[in-house]
Amino acid sequence: MAKIIVVTSGKGGVGKTTTSASFSAGLANRGFKTVVIDFDVGLRNLDLIMGCENRIVYDFVDVITGNAKLTQALVKDKQLENLYILPASQTRDKDALTDEGVAAVMKELNELGFDYIVCDSPAGIERGAQLAMYHADEALIVTNPEISSVRDSDRVIGLLQSRTKKAEEGSSVREHLIVTRYNPERAAQGEMMDLDTIANEILRVPLIGVIPESNAVLEASNHGQPVIHYPESAAGQCYDDIVARFLGEERPLRHLDVKKKGFFQRLFGG
Ligand SMILES: Nc1ncnc2c1ncn2[C@@H]1O[C@H](COP(=O)(O)OP(=O)(O)O)[C@@H](O)[C@H]1O
Ligand SMILES: [Mg+2]
Repeated sequence: MAKIIVVTSGKGGVGKTTTSASFSAGLANRGFKTVVIDFDVGLRNLDLIMGCENRIVYDFVDVITGNAKLTQALVKDKQLENLYILPASQTRDKDALTDEGVAAVMKELNELGFDYIVCDSPAGIERGAQLAMYHADEALIVTNPEISSVRDSDRVIGLLQSRTKKAEEGSSVREHLIVTRYNPERAAQGEMMDLDTIANEILRVPLIGVIPESNAVLEASNHGQPVIHYPESAAGQCYDDIVARFLGEERPLRHLDVKKKGFFQRLFGG
């Protein structure tokens, strides 16, 4: 059976698509047949981050409306043999995705032998986000260390526990927390929420990883590459750690220490 993972957050712009791209590339790189689905109808960010935007002919809505077969719409990743992208539609009709249509696509992906189906959720807690999470076995809840993001993630957790297939069946979606755009210096100065407060006091979801704020993320996406393909970058390493932990490996958190300022930086306040 394919395992379905939703990448969700509530708030927009926190790093869901960045996470979906790197997480699915990490799974595929370890030999798992993986598909990542862009549920963000009308926006289409995932294909840009994965560098496959020019290869798109059909999309998720084409499959649901019967305009194309699923196998016609899947775009093969440029680098990884085992990775496929199901792109979002550019349509403005946010209701183009139907419950039955999404269920049929999940079933067919399972029949095609995928090990993992990663669902990149749109922002918000409305229909689009609920469709993305409905079939999930596990959830990566992406949060930034700020109160508005944490509050929205708390709402999403409520939905995961009530509006999913697992919840209907009386079981539960396994939740994992990812804190992204984390800046240890600012956290130490009290300008950002600290990890313990977010994970253990407010959300009470096990932390699977922390991604530092990093220029490499933007640089990678400008090159149409998930940042996990930049193993020299802290963000790339931390995404690799998340994939490893997801697959059961134990790895300590890293890149969380406050960098000591050099003499000149202290002198000139840099
Ligand atoms: N760890 C990070 N460090 C710096 N910028 C990041 C990081 N993660 C994401 N970003 C940037 O934040 C913006 C939103 O990211 P994205 O993944 O599209 O969020 P979402 O899918 O939640 O809307 C993008 O410009 C992205 O490059
Ligand atoms: Mg997104």
